Amino acid sequence: MKKQIRLFVNGEEHDLQLEANRLLLQALRDDIGLTGTKEGCSIGVCGACSVIIDGRVVSSCLTLAVACQGKQIETIEGLAKDGKLHPLQQAFIEYGGFQCGICTPGQIMAAKALLDENPKPTEDEVKEWMSGNLCRCTGYYKILESVMAVVNNKISPDFQFRKPVGVWPGFPLKACGNDGLEKSRKSLLRSELPRIEPKTLD
Ligand code: FES
Ligand code: FES
Repeated sequence: MKKQIRLFVNGEEHDLQLEANRLLLQALRDDIGLTGTKEGCSIGVCGACSVIIDGRVVSSCLTLAVACQGKQIETIEGLAKDGKLHPLQQAFIEYGGFQCGICTPGQIMAAKALLDENPKPTEDEVKEWMSGNLCRCTGYYKILESVMAVVNNKISPDFQFRKPVGVWPGFPLKACGNDGLEKSRKSLLRSELPRIEPKTLD
């Protein structure tokens, strides 16, 4: 039996009729159409599906949508304001904090939840906090560097996406073709793909 619920996602109201066992991840991606939140393991292990609910980072693959009635949900799509990236989004681009980008929205949401609570964490505190977010591409140092760049105010004030500083020579132009930079930027904002389903996570 379906239930009528209201979700507040990135400040916008969404009235939905959902089965009681509908996951928040499914509601976000398939019912609301916000595909920036990614599905990795589906069992609460990888952190790819991380979103922020009432200030707390949670795995949306383990959260029932009906349990979020009336709560404030933040997803990666809500971070950029007025065409300007959130400092964490900028840092991940500037410092090369992602490779394939699948884990990246979850990494950024987890980092945001930390910095909202503690804007000046130590490196160890960031490592500890982010330990629930796995990266299959294993770019952990760059992820840490990206978060610490925000903590230490080391992101460029005049950053322009199409002129990245030379911290990632050869990537992603080489890996993704000439429009690789644009594809990578979109992965931080909102995937154009309806869903990405890894075949294995061994
Ligand atoms: S998809 Fe939710 S924790 Fe992996
Ligand atoms: S960038 Fe590929 S899984 Fe993290």
